[in-house]
Amino acid sequence: MEIGVHTGAFSSRILRIVQPQVLHCVDPWKYEDSDIYKAACYGGQVTDGQAGMDKRYLAVCARFDHAIRAGQVEIHRGYSRDVLAEFPDDFFDWVYIDGNHLYEYVRKDLALCFKKVKLGGYITGDDYTDGGWWQGGVKKAVDECIQARAVAVVLLRNGQFVLRKTG
Ligand SMILES: C[S@@+](CC[C@H](N)C(=O)[O-])C[C@H]1O[C@@H](n2cnc3c(N)ncnc32)[C@H](O)[C@@H]1O
Repeated sequence: MEIGVHTGAFSSRILRIVQPQVLHCVDPWKYEDSDIYKAACYGGQVTDGQAGMDKRYLAVCARFDHAIRAGQVEIHRGYSRDVLAEFPDDFFDWVYIDGNHLYEYVRKDLALCFKKVKLGGYITGDDYTDGGWWQGGVKKAVDECIQARAVAVVLLRNGQFVLRKTG
């Protein structure tokens, strides 16, 4: 599962390189107009508001049309917390978290993903860095997850994090 799809650029690379049986792509494509999101690609950076997000969603559906028909891609338009809740526990081989970067959201994504990923599976994601408009929220949440949960750190590099569920 990829949480946070945007235009599908990374989803495309996942499909090409990882060749998953099924890739679940999750994004609400919802324009956020509050001040805290003014530097986000789903907030102030969007010039045409919700209409732009709707176009982005349709473009992603078109981009992966072939893979969707083949059953290799499933697009879920919704918030990660709601979409993840629809899946059984211990279901995913891996998840890539790149959705809402604010601390509280990442903390909840990590907690839910920990439940939904299989033992030995991977909880991974982007923007494990200090700063950013999200004020280091990803790093803080990931560091807490490493301390609190049964995970092994596989890699923390170039803003990427890869954890393996060990218990
Ligand atoms: C940084 S972009 C994702 C980029 C994409 N992973 C890539 O590398 O090409 C962040 C995306 O997260 C989405 N998003 C925001 N809140 C979300 C949430 N609660 N659940 C899932 N996705 C969310 C936004 O709509 C936006 O498209």
